[in-house]
Amino acid sequence: MSAPLRDQHGRAIEYLRISITDRCNFRCVYCMPEAGLDWLPKQDILSYEEIVDVVRQLAPLGLRRLRITGGEPTIRPDLLTLVRQLKAVEGIEDIALSTNGVKLPAMAADLRAAGLDRVNISADSLRPERIAAIARRNLGFAPIVAVRAAIEADLAPVKLNVVVMRGINDDEVVDFARITLELPVHVRFIELMPVGEMAHLTNEHVVPSDEVLARVATLGPLAPADGPARGNGPATYSRLAGAVGTIGVITPMTHTYCGSCNRVRLTADGRLRTCLYGDHEVNLRDPLRRGEALGPLFRQALAEKPLEHNLLQLKVGGLKALSQVGG
Ligand code: 5AD
Ligand code: SF4
Repeated sequence: MSAPLRDQHGRAIEYLRISITDRCNFRCVYCMPEAGLDWLPKQDILSYEEIVDVVRQLAPLGLRRLRITGGEPTIRPDLLTLVRQLKAVEGIEDIALSTNGVKLPAMAADLRAAGLDRVNISADSLRPERIAAIARRNLGFAPIVAVRAAIEADLAPVKLNVVVMRGINDDEVVDFARITLELPVHVRFIELMPVGEMAHLTNEHVVPSDEVLARVATLGPLAPADGPARGNGPATYSRLAGAVGTIGVITPMTHTYCGSCNRVRLTADGRLRTCLYGDHEVNLRDPLRRGEALGPLFRQALAEKPLEHNLLQLKVGGLKALSQVGG
């Protein structure tokens, strides 16, 4: 096996996030305008065959781990076929899925059987009316049912991602943390990134993670913990005394973790983005459709991967919504 490629700053890049659709069955206030976005035309979106082709070409360069994202990936037809084909690519060791969880109770067992290793579920409230208010769709989503379905299907480690918004759901931090006392789940609190024109969310809605952890600590002593064995992302973990699960915080607004960034992103229309923010991207789709080799383009993209993002200065280049790049 080849060693992972390194970018110009020496970071090993072995993790690709693949957005397979820009659409979603939710319209979360921090992510997507209520009316939706200008959806990509079907012919612009990579087919499953094309996605698998990209991964086949990048695996020999050291790509090891994949995450399937969206929009909401479970709404693209025939997802199981894609999982099966990606799983069969030599060198790919781990495939994760980021989902809003709505379809997970129905799909978890089949996804596992197709070769999916694990899931991240997004949930910003445990209260039905509030879920519908934040997601601006009432689809009867029940976060705990989705988490249990994932655990039962052995899509572990199961992560539950909560975007904390002051005055909107920050009063539920303790309720989310309590889940870790009972269930083997990693509950991760994410600082809101007020990008684009999202429902008037501003810096005032950001709750710094230190404040989140102070609230969690009202439940009992919190000790630093190792994160989940698989999927080393940007979260920092701790554990409540006696808990089976852990608490993670992800701090895009108060700290950068760019120095350990190990990831690149593929958009649904086949652009390789080397940083969530800014305009660093390389079109892979057109060369792929012309039958050209992608390796040199991948190397070029990594050579240009920026050292860190500029979100702390809120200079978010060209993005209307994070759903466009798969979060
Ligand atoms: N701020 C923070 N996280 C976001 N996500 C999407 N938009 C934002 C935002 N503005 C992340 C969340 C969500 C996932 C789909 O993408 O983690 O759960
Ligand atoms: Fe959909 Fe996830 Fe965006 Fe919500 S955050 S609108 S579930 S893509």
